[in-house]
Amino acid sequence: MNKNCVKLLSLIFLIATGSAYAQKNYEFNLDVKKIGAPIQSTMYGLFFEDINFAADGGLYAELIKNRSFDFPQSLMGWYTFGKVEVKKDNSPFDRNPNYLVLSASGHTHKHTGIENEGFRGIGFKKDATYRFSVWAKKINGNEDQKIRVEFINSKNNIIGSQELTINSSDWKKYEMVIPAKDTEEKGRLRVFFTSKGSIAIDHVSLFPTDTYKGRQNGLRKDLAQALADIHPGIFRFPGGCIVEGTDLDTRYDWKKSVGAVENRPINENRWHYTFAHRFYPDYYQSYGLGFYEYFLLSEDMGAEPLPVVNCGLACQYQNEGGHCHVPVGEIDSYVQDALDLIEFANGPITSTWGKLRADMGHPESFNLKFIGVGNEQWGKEYPERLEPFIKAIRAKYPEIKIVGSSGPSADGKEFDYLWTEMKRLKADLVDEHYYKGPDWFLANAARYDNYDRKGPAVFAGEYASHDHSTGKQNNFLSALSEAAFMTGLERNADIVHMCTYAPLFAHVDGWQWNPDMIWFDNLRMMKTPNYYVQQLYAQNKGTNVVNLTWMADKKAVTGQDNLYASAVYDNTQSCYIVKVVNTSNEAKDVKITLSGAKKNMAFSVEDCIMIQNTDMKAINTLDTPFNITPQKTTAAISGNILSAKTQPQSFNVYKIKSDSTK
Ligand code: AHR
Repeated sequence: MNKNCVKLLSLIFLIATGSAYAQKNYEFNLDVKKIGAPIQSTMYGLFFEDINFAADGGLYAELIKNRSFDFPQSLMGWYTFGKVEVKKDNSPFDRNPNYLVLSASGHTHKHTGIENEGFRGIGFKKDATYRFSVWAKKINGNEDQKIRVEFINSKNNIIGSQELTINSSDWKKYEMVIPAKDTEEKGRLRVFFTSKGSIAIDHVSLFPTDTYKGRQNGLRKDLAQALADIHPGIFRFPGGCIVEGTDLDTRYDWKKSVGAVENRPINENRWHYTFAHRFYPDYYQSYGLGFYEYFLLSEDMGAEPLPVVNCGLACQYQNEGGHCHVPVGEIDSYVQDALDLIEFANGPITSTWGKLRADMGHPESFNLKFIGVGNEQWGKEYPERLEPFIKAIRAKYPEIKIVGSSGPSADGKEFDYLWTEMKRLKADLVDEHYYKGPDWFLANAARYDNYDRKGPAVFAGEYASHDHSTGKQNNFLSALSEAAFMTGLERNADIVHMCTYAPLFAHVDGWQWNPDMIWFDNLRMMKTPNYYVQQLYAQNKGTNVVNLTWMADKKAVTGQDNLYASAVYDNTQSCYIVKVVNTSNEAKDVKITLSGAKKNMAFSVEDCIMIQNTDMKAINTLDTPFNITPQKTTAAISGNILSAKTQPQSFNVYKIKSDSTK
């Protein structure tokens, strides 16, 4: 053979193999005849906490901060001009007593009014409409009084305006819909008092009319839609440390979050000062997105709600010595709160709390099935408080499944102690939290392979891969390591019944904690690569686990050769779904044999999706939100063997249809 001939043959070989060297085949066996444990409908879900301005200033579509003037600094968020007084006598709302009195300035060239700065500005969209509402009354006199409501942009120009007449001497709610003539990210709301007398005003509110599902007191449409698009099976709320509070006064008290929004009292948001280096003195909870709105959103998304109640412990990090916890002997009212919450969700409309739910617009039960008691608790303080909750809930609502805590660590003495206690107390699920580096996630893909199958199930309630080398950005490395780890959740779905990434949301100008799954400003939002990983799992969760192993040694695929894999069967679509994560920086040819199939079974590739990037530091931003998104990829099937080239640093989902040919 001459030299040219050798070169030609080498070239043909290169083209055929796609590589300078013959590629090794990575061979897996998928046992199709053994349909394994059911995957719970709750397997992949969401965890919402009002951190990073996730609720007020975020998902809750209210655009006015301190709308009822009841922050401790009653005019925080407001600029006033002319004659403006804060009053509280004869307020229409006993739990939010402050209101304002605006009076004519006494000079035609001077003005009286107020201006609200929103949550780091107010977002207005050109041609969108906004529902302004205010509780008001005229004071001293019969003449109707007027205000002019204006949308102001960052250049101090008016981009929307409308007049409102206050015609009653009794407190009354007034409403009008105002269009915005321009787009502005950091706008303000100005209210001019334009008459000669005086008026009192309270609960000044502004919502886009186009909220999620068009609801008043509704949710920001793009953010709520992003949640629904995940197809979550479980929805944990309201926290997180928010449940505990810095002290018990600031815990999330669900009873304050229901009923008329105007009368839900302000709560100090503990994230306003939890991190002194990211201090937000204007961070309070209006409870406008309260338990009713939460149950409604769960229902809209088809997710099972998992409310978490305070167990009588304030944040244990912030209260060493425990002086501010409720003594065990005095826990009854906390236990009652949990029972009442179940009644609020499920109780008949003849019950006290069921009636409130019906009065709020939902006579049907929310069909609550789960409740969490306590967040990241530890020490004997926790089980001794959890016990009375379990007894009372089991006695009154035996069908409700109870989630207990394993504390803030993913392992160690405290973790082991709490797991033993959760078994003793017969909790149904145990909530585990892990905020760890990418290496931990990669090393822990087999975490649940040898877990005790006889005790409570696992709820991976808070987790995220923290790449400290890049300031904990939501980079591709973090997402890929989570995808690899999640093959282990899926493989062990007989014992892992739920998992939720944390935290969910962050305002780019108001965050305390990162990474977070979805970032937003006042107009836009961005889904992180971590979001897409969650979505790919949730949308391809299947109905049963199937056994996927290395062909050679029948071991689970948990990182050998930088490959991680799991598989499920979906009996609603007659398909197998295989997930393969390749964390190496080279493409790998994977061959998956679907073994054990009946002779009349035919397999075909239905869909192949991957999320991939060669730059582990790559991120999405609000300006480049589609830098990393799921893409189509390919695989071929011949008989019962699927062949796929997994790209370097990729998470792949292969959907294989199985049809019977006779
Ligand atoms: O997700 C942020 C915080 O992390 C949660 O509030 C808490 O449970 C955990 O420590």
